[in-house]
Amino acid sequence: MENLEQVHLQVNEVFYPTEELKKECIVQDYESMYKKSIENPDEFWSEVASELFWYQKWDKVLEWNFPYAKWFVNGKTNITYNCLDRHVENGRRNKLAFISVDEEGNEKKITYGELLERVNRLANGLKSLGLSKGDRVSIYMPNTVEAVISMLACARIGVIHSVVFAGFSEGALKIRVNDAKAKAVITATYTKRRGKKIPLLPTVLEATKDLDFVKHIIVWDRDKEIEESQQNGKIVDFENLIKSSSPVCNPEIMDAEDPLFILYTSGTTGKPKGVLHTVGGYMVNTYLTTKTVFNIKEDTVYWCTADVGWITGHSYIVYGPLANGTTSVIMEGVPVYPHPGIWWEYVEKYRVNVFYTAPTAIRMLMRFGDEIPAKYDLSSLKIIGSVGEPINPEAWLWYYKHVGKEKAKVVDTWWQTETGAHMITTLPCYPAKPGKAGKPMFGVVADVVDKQGNSLPPNTIGYLVIRKPWPSMLRTCWGEPERYEKYWKDIPGNVYNADDLAAIDEDGYIMIVGRADDVLNVAGHRIGNAEVESAIIEHPAVAEAAVIGKPNEIKGESIKAFVVLKEGYTPSPELVDEIKETVKEVLGAIAVPDEIEFVDKLPKTRSGKIMRRVLRAKELGQELGDISTLED
Ligand code: WT7
Repeated sequence: MENLEQVHLQVNEVFYPTEELKKECIVQDYESMYKKSIENPDEFWSEVASELFWYQKWDKVLEWNFPYAKWFVNGKTNITYNCLDRHVENGRRNKLAFISVDEEGNEKKITYGELLERVNRLANGLKSLGLSKGDRVSIYMPNTVEAVISMLACARIGVIHSVVFAGFSEGALKIRVNDAKAKAVITATYTKRRGKKIPLLPTVLEATKDLDFVKHIIVWDRDKEIEESQQNGKIVDFENLIKSSSPVCNPEIMDAEDPLFILYTSGTTGKPKGVLHTVGGYMVNTYLTTKTVFNIKEDTVYWCTADVGWITGHSYIVYGPLANGTTSVIMEGVPVYPHPGIWWEYVEKYRVNVFYTAPTAIRMLMRFGDEIPAKYDLSSLKIIGSVGEPINPEAWLWYYKHVGKEKAKVVDTWWQTETGAHMITTLPCYPAKPGKAGKPMFGVVADVVDKQGNSLPPNTIGYLVIRKPWPSMLRTCWGEPERYEKYWKDIPGNVYNADDLAAIDEDGYIMIVGRADDVLNVAGHRIGNAEVESAIIEHPAVAEAAVIGKPNEIKGESIKAFVVLKEGYTPSPELVDEIKETVKEVLGAIAVPDEIEFVDKLPKTRSGKIMRRVLRAKELGQELGDISTLED
């Protein structure tokens, strides 16, 4: 495993909140609040949940029937009531919910009152199309407020949404729509990226053409390109549906354990897992973590740069911020177009107080030089967050110095699609250590263990596990309960295996090293090695493929593929391009290998399993480790 020297190198400097921030912190005493959350979870979570609206109170906070949990048992609520109506009724009707911006400086502002109305109208529209509680709807949308409205409209009436990142290709979309058996897909004519229009509707039409259960395709027709004559039948106009439906829609009364959404994520096999989250626990924990990690106050302006297509977007663009009645910026586009100061331009313009992004973006912007952020007034920033992959101390310090101006507090947040909300983070009130995520969030019992489940001594790298259920945990994998159970049955001791490697230091700070399984983290995107391999072998010339991750300065990891060609084919640069194109078609641009090497054979175990570990060690010039099971 990794050498431990690095672990020690990173603890040298500790960064305290400024006096001013410290005074403003919602959580002043992390230790005592954490202690209460562990020693008296019923009281702790009851108090948090009571800050939100419930049609009926829960009978019991937790029912734990290993490995299945029920939180807020028999509680009845609706997450959209808490995200919208609650604020409108409490004097925030005219407060901005979102400032939706794009790369060209266009902005669209929407208040809580307006957002509620549009959500209600779309929810009624979905009902008019025959959708009801328990049905699934796939959402393949640009990162705009229309995507948020689509998600909330589903949640309003108990429809389970399944958002698919709009950067995924037709093949990846098809697998997800098919697995969820979605009755409708909500999409747009296109999304904007680097000044170009990337069509989305044609991808949806192609992906769903053989899926008979998809009855409607609801299209946000951005430039009014679709003629009325085309709108009969399957295609429904998003805006017309909103316009023609009533603005009043009573929220569906949802049980705390009713499904809220499915979000597909990569695992170790070629098939993505449909992570299922339910209403009550997810709502309570996204509310609490947003409030305490980002120190949300009434006048906070917040910006999470993620895409709604990922869990970060679900929890920290949509549900968490809205449950707190926050004003958020949401942006469609990339951080470097039309210029690499665009994010800082918006931070200055909207006086953003809390900024939340990924290390890969920080490293990319870092390359453009210190003078870019220096051109803007970033003095509004109080908290700057990081998520998605380990943040190296160099990038951490640059972020702190050049974006936070040594005043804003860096909070590194570790969590997963499966955990629904932050699990290990630095809170604003206590010191941060660059390169270490921080301490466990409320109610989280984290540990680092060996394969047998024994706790390891401080500063020793092992498997990161969670010892107790938490409110926003995944409840199952859609249609594949065995894959869900595996998380809890992998390591002895009834613990949840996060499949990350980590180490805990003597102060209880947890450093995340990276994935322990065959899952890549490329620019913060989670991609299964096996997924890329199955995409590669769809090319007719390919017999076999193995994919490894290589350390990459900007993206964290880059993808290298080893390819064995079928009899009669010879390696060529054209073939490299074709294979890349195949992966792009099957999975999307984010999964395209950076390097392809043709080989005669792949290292395998005697039982025929490809030993990616051996390929990786060879590629990186490391020791091969135990190769006793190698075939020859
Ligand atoms: C994996 C989960 C959770 C939001 C985005 C990714 C890695 C996530 C951190 C962090 C080190 C991190 C882990 C984790 N990861 N945040 N702050 N420090 N690693 O969600 O796609 O479900 O991926 O991302 O390896 O297991 P995801």
